[in-house]
Amino acid sequence: MSATIRKEPIVPVVLRSGERAAIAQKIRRALPVILSAIDRNSVYFGSRFPDAACEDGRYPIIDNQEWTTSFWTGQLWLAWEWTRNDAYRTLAEQHVRSFGERIARRDHTNHHDLGFLYSLSCIAANKLTGNREAAYIAQQAAEVLMERYHEKCGIIQAWGELDNPEQQGRMIIDCNMNLPLLYQASASTGDPRFAEAAKNHIEQARRYIVREDGSTFHTYYMDVHTGEPRFGNTHQGFSDDSCWSRGQAWGVYGFLLNYLYTGDERLLELSQTLANYFINRLPEDLICYWDLALTDPHSERDSSASAILACALLELVKQLPATHPDRESYEALALRMIARMLDDYLNTVHKAGEGLLQHSVYYFKGNVGVDECCAWGDYFLMEALTRATSCWNSYW
Ligand code: GLY
Repeated sequence: MSATIRKEPIVPVVLRSGERAAIAQKIRRALPVILSAIDRNSVYFGSRFPDAACEDGRYPIIDNQEWTTSFWTGQLWLAWEWTRNDAYRTLAEQHVRSFGERIARRDHTNHHDLGFLYSLSCIAANKLTGNREAAYIAQQAAEVLMERYHEKCGIIQAWGELDNPEQQGRMIIDCNMNLPLLYQASASTGDPRFAEAAKNHIEQARRYIVREDGSTFHTYYMDVHTGEPRFGNTHQGFSDDSCWSRGQAWGVYGFLLNYLYTGDERLLELSQTLANYFINRLPEDLICYWDLALTDPHSERDSSASAILACALLELVKQLPATHPDRESYEALALRMIARMLDDYLNTVHKAGEGLLQHSVYYFKGNVGVDECCAWGDYFLMEALTRATSCWNSYW
């Protein structure tokens, strides 16, 4: 357990004169490029979905079964917000029905990523259009997610059957992003069970997943019989004691989202602690390597982790008082990350089935989606652009 967690200071960053306007112009120029890519992909995927990551530069087409399919739906909702072109809304609403069927059939729902899936599809639909059926589907998903909650140790198990000895009692940092679905279910049903489980889970993540130096384990095992902590390790990171970049990004954003639902100031502070650790390990171009322990400039980048971080930093900017010493730096860094992504990582010669944000890593050691586009990288790039140019009403 982390007794006291150290928050590293960051070097202050200030935008140069004219830099903000130059980035805004860069974003304005990127929007039509992205929308054309979304149009091509809408035809290419039809009523089906992109796989989690590209293979040889193109997404395999899949049914609505992966943990990532809603990132495509989320892109459609954002495209609709940007343009109010109803073609995007019509396709996103078709997805909502698909997500309804998926939860009713319990089709590939035996994992904790129901928050990712149902926030960006059904919660978004409800927030944007008042779709009540979508809200009901999201409640059903929250109910299914609750089946993974271990009462004794207060965590939601990430993967596998609840009695699988390899996975039993394993929580992972990514889950922080799945918890908003539970808070929303309590808000819409009046049943406190969902929010209580989410609060217990985030408290255990705060205690055990975060290390004393402000880095994070990817995964941590709890004893489901005694409730005691066991040990942390990694699944997608470089090593058990390294810090997987995307996990850290899920942590920065996820602790912050949980702060928004609970008002627990410790989570706001923790989000900054994780952010500072991340920022201090960024290469010069601000796009991280796939693990924060890596320093070799030939290491693969995970641009998706930097896209997630940019979104989280822009949300931190919204939450922190104007006098906060790191607030200006967080905004400057997020805007520069966006600029770098648009300059060097955006797929500007997009062909049908390709992604938007190049050079991500899904699972390095499994050799899956290495130096490819991935569904969440594309989504978070669009969310970052939306956040940078508007006062966005979040889907999370
Ligand atoms: N949540 C799984 C991943 O980020 O790869």
